[in-house]
Amino acid sequence: MALSLAGQLSPWLRPQPISMVLRCRLIFKGYLNHLHELQIYEKQIYGPIYKVATGSLYSIALNSVELVEELLRKDEKFPSRGDMSLWTEYRDMRDIGYGPFTEEGEKWYRLRAVLNKRMLHPKDSVQYAGVVNEVVTDFIKRIYHLRKASPTGDLVTNLSNELYRFSLEGISSILFETRIGCLENEIPKETQDFIDSIAQMFTYSMPVVLMPKWTRNILPLWDRYIRGWEGIFKFAGQLIDIKMEAIQKRVDTDQEVDGEYLTYLLSNTNMTNKEVYGSIAELLLAGVDTTSNTMMWTLYQLSREPEVQDTLYQEVNHCVKGDGIPTAQDVTNMPYLKAVIKEALRMYPVVPMNARRMSEKDITIGGYFFPKKTAFTLCHYSICHDEKVFPEPSKFKPERWLRDGRTRPNPFGSIPFGFGVRGCVGRRIAELEMYLALARIIKLFEIRPDPSIGDVKVINRTVLVADRQVNLHFLERNGNIVL
Ligand code: HEM
Repeated sequence: MALSLAGQLSPWLRPQPISMVLRCRLIFKGYLNHLHELQIYEKQIYGPIYKVATGSLYSIALNSVELVEELLRKDEKFPSRGDMSLWTEYRDMRDIGYGPFTEEGEKWYRLRAVLNKRMLHPKDSVQYAGVVNEVVTDFIKRIYHLRKASPTGDLVTNLSNELYRFSLEGISSILFETRIGCLENEIPKETQDFIDSIAQMFTYSMPVVLMPKWTRNILPLWDRYIRGWEGIFKFAGQLIDIKMEAIQKRVDTDQEVDGEYLTYLLSNTNMTNKEVYGSIAELLLAGVDTTSNTMMWTLYQLSREPEVQDTLYQEVNHCVKGDGIPTAQDVTNMPYLKAVIKEALRMYPVVPMNARRMSEKDITIGGYFFPKKTAFTLCHYSICHDEKVFPEPSKFKPERWLRDGRTRPNPFGSIPFGFGVRGCVGRRIAELEMYLALARIIKLFEIRPDPSIGDVKVINRTVLVADRQVNLHFLERNGNIVL
């Protein structure tokens, strides 16, 4: 229960039946898909800190940059985002290990120490640039193929779906060191089953949370949810097993074992196979919708902002001459490219809210005392759109991120990859994928909107996605296909 400094219940942090009713009404009024907007609405009504009840559980919403900064600066040694039972239940049923998302405490800390290596430092991620660029090349080929097949000869329809295929191929080639065929015209059946399993698991997550446990034997929801996980682990498990066999063969014949991320996990660490299965599956799940939707929002905004797009094109063209393919080294000289992605992540923080549960100690936030185990919700979306933090928040302005002498925004105003030791482990890989793909796309094509789709709105499906199919025109800049 929240207490004020004086030890009394703060009136506005008390359980608020009225606010709960209001919240339910808003959810049924359509906010379920717009929980990110609910953050803005609730801030107007309750101010920057308030209590949010979900059934018998509650958390304290922090809805200002100052409060979020205060909390995160007090992050614990083993920070926790709170209850992950939705994901751990399946793992417990099948005796599969936990990964970085689901593990907690000291075990999580040890796991992250292993996973961070070869991934988190910019110089680690650079080693994947070659692999990523091969995937980008196939993506560009696919864009050419789709344009050609379109009625206007330059339209790419359902961009979210295409970028999903790009991201899944990218992260799989890094994690499994294997191409899985997402960018082929005919996706291999096992890969398609895997894609369907991911969708199935996510689709049934929310209904499974909303329905009481006793309905699991009566309704098909739980069964379908579990089948989603079965498909995910089956596919990931097969690829890991193949890699293990290959490593074993090399060891048996005294050959050097040398490879990328999965080889590192399997041969250079003390991780058990059970732990590797759990971790790889979670890395894979976290690495697809996040990068693909960010890319989609970036291209959508660029199509609407020709001047921004032109500035970006000039930068890329200046750094990469002629037919060159942008490399990780080139990207270090492209501040505007990075600012474009940063601004897209500010306007569309693909993970619109985050959480922390203070497990070990009591804490004071905003002058209020909270006992240990209090859960906090961090309202990133609303802070990213707060005009006190970001003037003209609804404008796509990459310049605000440039280090050219202007006052830069509060660093806690937009923290799309989270914060501190529990922050996103895939950040550097995600950035590398997005930079290399965007630089190549912009060098080859001018992106124009498809007026028939109108203004694309944001909806919240755990990550922020488009409310409709997004199509964009890809006009070839100079007729030179560089692949
Ligand atoms: C645009 C791309 C991405 C965004 C915006 C993003 C965002 C985030 C955020 C906000 C968190 C929570 C951090 C915190 O609590 O402080 C997170 C955690 C995580 N992300 Fe990402 N992510 C992205 C891409 C990726 C990729 C490509 C991978 C995999 C390689 C990945 C793997 C993970 C994992 C495993 C965690 C859990 C870390 C832990 O709890 O220790 N993410 N991400």
